[in-house]
Amino acid sequence: LVLILDFGSQYTHLITRRIRALSVFSLCISGTCPLSSITSLNPKVVILSGGPHSVHSNDSPSFADGFVDWAQSNGVFVLGICYGLQLLVQRLGGEVRVGEKQEYGRMDIAVEKNCGIFGGKKVGDKLVVWMSHGDEAARLPDGFEVVARSQQGAVAAVEDRDRKFYGLQYHPEVTHSPEGMETLRYFLFDVCGVNAGWKMEDVMDEEIEVINNTVAPDDHVICALSGGVDSTVAATLVHKAIGDRLHCVFVDNGLLRYKERERVMETFERDLHLPVTCVDASEQFLSKLKGVVDPEMKRKIIGKEFICIFDAFAHELEQKLGKKPAFLVQGTLYPDVIESCPPPGSGRTHSHTIKSHHNVGGLPKDMKLKLIEPLKLLFKDEVRQLGRILKVPEPFLKRHPFPGPGLAVRVLGDVTEGNALDIVRQVDEIFIQSIKDAGIYDSIWQAFAVFLPVKSVGVQGDQRTHSYVVTLRAVTSQDGMTADWYCFENSFLKEVSQKICNNVRGVNRVTLDITSKPPSTIEWE
Ligand code: XMP
Repeated sequence: LVLILDFGSQYTHLITRRIRALSVFSLCISGTCPLSSITSLNPKVVILSGGPHSVHSNDSPSFADGFVDWAQSNGVFVLGICYGLQLLVQRLGGEVRVGEKQEYGRMDIAVEKNCGIFGGKKVGDKLVVWMSHGDEAARLPDGFEVVARSQQGAVAAVEDRDRKFYGLQYHPEVTHSPEGMETLRYFLFDVCGVNAGWKMEDVMDEEIEVINNTVAPDDHVICALSGGVDSTVAATLVHKAIGDRLHCVFVDNGLLRYKERERVMETFERDLHLPVTCVDASEQFLSKLKGVVDPEMKRKIIGKEFICIFDAFAHELEQKLGKKPAFLVQGTLYPDVIESCPPPGSGRTHSHTIKSHHNVGGLPKDMKLKLIEPLKLLFKDEVRQLGRILKVPEPFLKRHPFPGPGLAVRVLGDVTEGNALDIVRQVDEIFIQSIKDAGIYDSIWQAFAVFLPVKSVGVQGDQRTHSYVVTLRAVTSQDGMTADWYCFENSFLKEVSQKICNNVRGVNRVTLDITSKPPSTIEWE
């Protein structure tokens, strides 16, 4: 295991991902967690991440007392990156000061001493790296040597070979350090002697074993399937472990896309052989949403209805099975849990009592379900990888995200007004199908249509019309936190607009959303 201690850098998750991409299992926990959390994980290598702090400020985060002695006496390799290097230098008795010149951005560094971390590079060889620091190491602790310096003379890489401590002032994990991945590879394999062998197949086997050890032979488990990648992969994995003691529910809330219920159910039953109960609750949801125009109010109403249906499903199962379902499967991913320290022990505990504010949206406390979160150590692309091994159909794995409140946040204003939902469904279907036909679906993070409760004047078939306006939104993004609007070819837009106006009754104007996030959000409500 390679353990990353997080000191708040925006790149910390990236270090974890880069190392996993080298087939080495890595975990990230808070840099300030107790020593016992670190030692119980028994890492071979610990990486101290960068961070926005200065080691001189009063509230600067630091690793637990005893960490350095523990690492040294157990032969654990330690690599400090940026703030991590400065922290190591300061805690070991060296000196960190505000640099005469701050270093931000792309920069050359020159090797001053042969070191395994730079592979075959010789003294005088240069590397382009990405720097982002104000402080610098001014005096190194005893035993440390400078391995590379920046073109401005600042310390860029250090080592204390005897004690197995290393440091890089720059960020090898970002793509702007073109040889950064190589540096991490040399460090892990040549310097630390780590074995590459972490495979998604092993993750699957391990997770199945954990589920089997957690769920007793007469226990039943429920799972709410949304039709999205995460819940589908989580359910498929749990089903592989415990078979038909898993009971899935898919809720048609009347806010789904064109033929979504049929398409999703077909995939679950035909391709995945998952036992799914489909609950048609569209009337229930839509009647509660009638007349509601406030976006937050819509979300709250939808969340509450989901809980009611879910509760009823659990209750029905209890009647049928004579026993309450004991567990709930959730498709929680690693980025959702990465902020907090894992519980002392392993960080691999798979069940704990549900909290009302959990991402299911506040399940009733008296349900007392325990959580099974088999994806909670994985990133999104790793979940897709696991899905492939579990034979989840590829188009399913590549589906664009769809929000929990569904089309309610894509029909502005009252969703029950006229045939707004029908219109947005048809427009969306034409738009998405055209995107697929153009072969650009996988280059887009998310694309969809939005219904605007606005009418404008048009002319169709020599007749004046007064019909609705729709807008098309397509964005590229890494994680949905920020996004840029996708730049379509003009010919594509012309064709789509024509198709929409020719085929969707009630629409005479198509607009395109050309706003990034920020300042907009991806969804319109
Ligand atoms: P925004 O609109 O906040 O969306 O830029 C970012 C990403 O999150 C999705 N989204 C949601 N997903 N429940 C969800 O499961 C929600 O309430 C919700 N709201 C937004 C959105 O589709 C985008 O991918």
